[in-house]
Amino acid sequence: MANEATKTAKLSIEGEATIELPIYAGNEGQDVIDVGKLTSQGYFTYDPGFVSTAACESEITYIDGDQGILLHRGYPIDQLAEHSNYLELCYLLLNGELPDEAEGKLFVDTIKNHTMVHEQLNNFFRGFRRDAHPMAIMCGVVGALSAFYHDSLDIDNPEHRRITAHRLIAKMPTLAAMSYKYSIGQPFIYPRNDLGYAENFLHMMFATPCEDYQVSPTLARAMDRIFLLHADHEQNASTSTVRLAGSTGANPFACIAAGIAALWGPSHGGANEGVLNMLDEIGGVENIDQYIQKAKDPNDPFRIMGFGHRVYKNYDPRAKVMQETCHEVLAELGITDDPILEMAQALEKIALEDEYFVSRRLYPNVDFYSGIILKAIGIPVEMFTVIFATGRTPGWIAHWNEMISGPYKIGRPRQLYKGSSKREYSAKT
Ligand code: ACO
Repeated sequence: MANEATKTAKLSIEGEATIELPIYAGNEGQDVIDVGKLTSQGYFTYDPGFVSTAACESEITYIDGDQGILLHRGYPIDQLAEHSNYLELCYLLLNGELPDEAEGKLFVDTIKNHTMVHEQLNNFFRGFRRDAHPMAIMCGVVGALSAFYHDSLDIDNPEHRRITAHRLIAKMPTLAAMSYKYSIGQPFIYPRNDLGYAENFLHMMFATPCEDYQVSPTLARAMDRIFLLHADHEQNASTSTVRLAGSTGANPFACIAAGIAALWGPSHGGANEGVLNMLDEIGGVENIDQYIQKAKDPNDPFRIMGFGHRVYKNYDPRAKVMQETCHEVLAELGITDDPILEMAQALEKIALEDEYFVSRRLYPNVDFYSGIILKAIGIPVEMFTVIFATGRTPGWIAHWNEMISGPYKIGRPRQLYKGSSKREYSAKT
């Protein structure tokens, strides 16, 4: 869609003519200054970490970090968490509107029809060491899907893109559970299409060929919420990675594998694993003060994992829902005196009152509570980021699809070069 300028910014550079730059208004949030023509004037913009750069136009998700608002296609995340479910949100992210009853049923049935993975894919798993991190396995096997689904790799064909979206959403839980089963040396458990999405994931994680696993409705609901709360978060690092990879025309499975790799980092999706590891390291409520001091020390790289966010400078709205779900799960499981939870609560209380955290507007983020819920459900720490990746898949695909459906350019940032100027080759003696 062509943008029309609502205002003009004037950039005056010493000794040069003033450059006029159009300003476009979004439906919500900040306006943007279009700097695309600056190159022809001999300048690039400089914005490490893209803190002030809008790299695309999007209609999928809106965040107001100051007010703690997150909307998917206009719907607030807390309303979606209360009234909707993960698969309905997947439909909404992909299609722009909520499904009616028939559309919703067809979507769920379609996803169920794609839950199995090609039997040959098992061989890929067997190539990994048993102690491989499940995220390493996921980067490999999701990328490998492109070797199995040649029938739907034409990125310019909307029907191919639709089938790929369904395949990815359906197969991610299967691959995630397989990566876990492989790491503990148990046989893979096939999906069961009579179960709901989250229920089926827990079944594939915890059933064995000799024993069925009865999925508690509270835990299935909590799992569904975890997927739902992670489904999309506009142009975060992994989504931007998917867009950048997709902008080259790479196939969607390769792009999502790139997104998984970016998500793995501890500053992004790896933080939920980091929260539990940090709480383990702290060891008890009596040590919290010492760790708060470490976090505040500018010479110490230690950070309170699960605190702070690039965009939210207020309570992450997902963290509020996650906190409620956490209490539901612990009550269902009869966990009243969990030392990890006790530490998490004490840490949260101190950090929310401490001047260092208050002045920097560092609040608990979604990872702070999701790790505790997952641990209570019995999911091992190494799987936390895999679960994040599974939940984030519809967001990645929706953004990739949005980009591919319209006019787009290959993503190619520029740089401020600080290296050697041209010099003649001379061998060192
Ligand atoms: N603990 C202690 N201090 C922190 C923390 C933290 N968790 N987060 C930020 N700060 C401090 C920084 O040291 C800095 O202090 P200074 O101004 O005195 O130098 C200030 O707060 C601003 O921090 P930045 O790193 O500039 O903030 P940025 O927006 O770049 O980083 C990030 C955001 C990466 C999330 C950061 O807050 C962090 O590392 N948090 C811990 C990891 C985490 O929980 N990541 C999950 C993110 S959410 C997600 O991906 C779902």
